Amino acid sequence: MAAAHPEVKTPAALAAQPPDYRTAVEKIVISHAINELYGAQVFDEVAVAFAPTPYWKWLTCRVAMEEYGHHVRFFRLGREIGIAEAKMLPQSAAKRPLSIFERPLRSWEEFCIIKLVADLAEIIQVEDLLKCSYLPLRAAAKATLPEEKFHAAFGEQSVKELIATPEGKAKAQAALDAIFPSMPAFFGAADSKNNELYRRFGIKFRTNREMRDDYLARVKKVVVKLDLTLPAA
Ligand SMILES: [Fe+2]
Ligand SMILES: [Fe+2]
Repeated sequence: MAAAHPEVKTPAALAAQPPDYRTAVEKIVISHAINELYGAQVFDEVAVAFAPTPYWKWLTCRVAMEEYGHHVRFFRLGREIGIAEAKMLPQSAAKRPLSIFERPLRSWEEFCIIKLVADLAEIIQVEDLLKCSYLPLRAAAKATLPEEKFHAAFGEQSVKELIATPEGKAKAQAALDAIFPSMPAFFGAADSKNNELYRRFGIKFRTNREMRDDYLARVKKVVVKLDLTLPAA
């Protein structure tokens, strides 16, 4: 195994790193800032209106607040290291959104399923940054992880409530069938050049394939526990 990359502790220390290292950190920060904002805008904020009771509206508001908060956290991190603000805002980003964000949210059941399966994918992405050689990014991941775990637990609890009736269970399964197939693509190409760079610099540690396999095993476990059927990816 290659020696661990030395820790880079501050934005000033980052500025002194080779361009490849800086670009790698920037790419990760941009992707988190954009994806968190897309998610908050197209799913979490919209879901407040779909939530069926005051209790679920309250919890959905908390989830939406935290998802916007994740954007703000990564956006600030990016600004500190000189990334142009426009690059971290979806409206002006050159990059197309991930396909999962192009599909409008249609129901409460879809939102519950998204929290169940998409936030687990986010947990796996964030976990891989917990030993990141750029320490401010490591700290952002550490602050984000417990909130993503809360979102996944929200997903599990809300789906548990849905499946208590046969009609609810059928709707939850239909939502899972509609949403899950686009999830594995979230982990990127198996032969990603970016991922290779991230690992070389100790920014991330697992290959896209390793993370995807871990995801598929974990998502299967939780879906089976809820007595639903995971559709083909
Ligand atoms: Fe998030
Ligand atoms: Fe989340």
